[in-house]
Amino acid sequence: MIKPLSLFIFNLSKSNIAAQFKFASSALPQFSSEKYGVKRKSFGVIQPTDIDYFKTILSEERVVTDESDVLPFNIDWIKNCRGQSKVVLKPKTTEEVSKILSYCNSKRLAVCPQGGNTGLVGGSVPVFDEIVLNFNLMNNIISLDEISGALVCESGCVLENLDNYVRDHNLIMPLDLGAKGSCHIGGNISTNAGGLRLLRYGNLHGSVLGLEAVKADGTILDCLRTLKKDNTGYHLKHLFIGSEGTLGVVTKVAIHCPALPKAVSLGFFGVKNFENILELYKRAKSSLGEILSAFEMADNESISSTVKNLKLSNPISDYPFYVLVETHGSDEVHDSEKLSRFLSEGMDSGLILDGTVTSEPAKMKNIWNIRESIAGAGLLEGYTFKYDVSIPLRNYYELVELLRKRLRDHTAKVYGYGHVGDGNIHINVIVPEYTKQLYSILEPYIFEEVAKFRGSISAEHGVGFRKPQFIHYSKDESALQLMRDMKKSMDPNGILNPYKVLPDVPNI
Ligand code: FAD
Ligand code: MLT
Ligand code: ZN
Repeated sequence: MIKPLSLFIFNLSKSNIAAQFKFASSALPQFSSEKYGVKRKSFGVIQPTDIDYFKTILSEERVVTDESDVLPFNIDWIKNCRGQSKVVLKPKTTEEVSKILSYCNSKRLAVCPQGGNTGLVGGSVPVFDEIVLNFNLMNNIISLDEISGALVCESGCVLENLDNYVRDHNLIMPLDLGAKGSCHIGGNISTNAGGLRLLRYGNLHGSVLGLEAVKADGTILDCLRTLKKDNTGYHLKHLFIGSEGTLGVVTKVAIHCPALPKAVSLGFFGVKNFENILELYKRAKSSLGEILSAFEMADNESISSTVKNLKLSNPISDYPFYVLVETHGSDEVHDSEKLSRFLSEGMDSGLILDGTVTSEPAKMKNIWNIRESIAGAGLLEGYTFKYDVSIPLRNYYELVELLRKRLRDHTAKVYGYGHVGDGNIHINVIVPEYTKQLYSILEPYIFEEVAKFRGSISAEHGVGFRKPQFIHYSKDESALQLMRDMKKSMDPNGILNPYKVLPDVPNI
């Protein structure tokens, strides 16, 4: 069921035509507060005098109050959550952010920090009338040290723009994801985004060298160092990596960019079952070693629906599972030979049924486009319940099979795909439309199953608005209490991104 009219267009990447989705006004999501039964906390209510004050800090056009202009900032990318904000503020400098937060804190006005609004757990949109603090206009690159690879920029820089910039200097950004054309580096840091090459370049706790953040009371915290080593006390930058805008607002970032690989090759393989994928992963680690940069999987349901819904072309035919293996190295002949040998040995042993290896940029782009488009492909068929979990690799695919069994009497498709190298599987359940009954069939069941494996209920997308009530499946009470204590100490009035991440924070 394709939703025809166009109200919102989510264009994730100029180069990714498949990732453009159009939605009808009739398809506006229900308000999150009604859908999930949330009560407004006792924050201040924004008054005309507040708007006047914001206009003295920002110019008039950077205080957005027109209802239709505000609407896209209230709705998340998967059209699951919808807030009721009346105003979007668009600062250009850290000092403006500081003045806004200091004022909001003094009036107990709640704030929802927002980057590219590509988050998948409802963290980036308000729940009630929180003020949206949007970073689109804080998009300057400040410096790049070509020797160390340290890039310093403002938090509203779009990831793909940063990558294009550093590529001209023989460097790459240490992370890459399907949302790169829209997501901001500040949003990436706030969610501790993983992405497609975490296996090779590690997570942002390692790559972020320093940052500047503004606390809820407007205090500017300058941790913007570009040093690799700095053991002078607590590593405060880590508080802001993955805290989803609940402890402070990231305004500037220093990040380490690895060298641009001289040779990139990509293999796309058809595989009979998940067990064979695990065997291939073991072999990839030993035979591709230091050049292995990504090891991704997708099942037939994911790939066939994506290819069909978005009219893409699959370079190999129909198989139960697909594996995508990428190498980043320094010798094109050597690397692609290694990957081709991996393919032929895989075929000889029956682990790979068919496959293709390429180093041609256009062909690689086509294959990556199929993988990156899975996230949105289901949106063209109806409503997507989205899960993002870490479980031990030997159990990785079991959850998909369990869900298919559980949903066998319902009209539902279950896609299983993800970052095998990180033990992180994404499960999208596509149904014609959202119903409370389906919701209760899926949740908390899926989180209970994850807990049985001692897994994580959120591997990379965060907790946001959708998962605070389930966080205890992955965090024990003492850890949660410390999180609440940190929240109270850094944001005593609870104005930063309320209703997100932490459950049960009394009246804040
Ligand atoms: P937003 O969605 O705007 O915000 C996300 C959270 O960060 C919110 O809680 C928000 O309040 C907070 N925030 C944003 N900016 C700031 C700031 N400056 N200071 C403080 N808090 C802030 N995620 C992955 O991890 N790996 C993937 O591979 C991946 N692929 C994706 C593919 C697609 C097609 C899509 C749509 C999403 C994907 N995501 C992925 C999810 C999403 O893109 C990431 O979470 C991304 O990091 C969000 O960045 P953003 O700028 O859009 O942040
Ligand atoms: C991905 O790996 O494609 C992203 O995390 C988005 C998704 O979960 O679909
Ligand atoms: Zn992912």
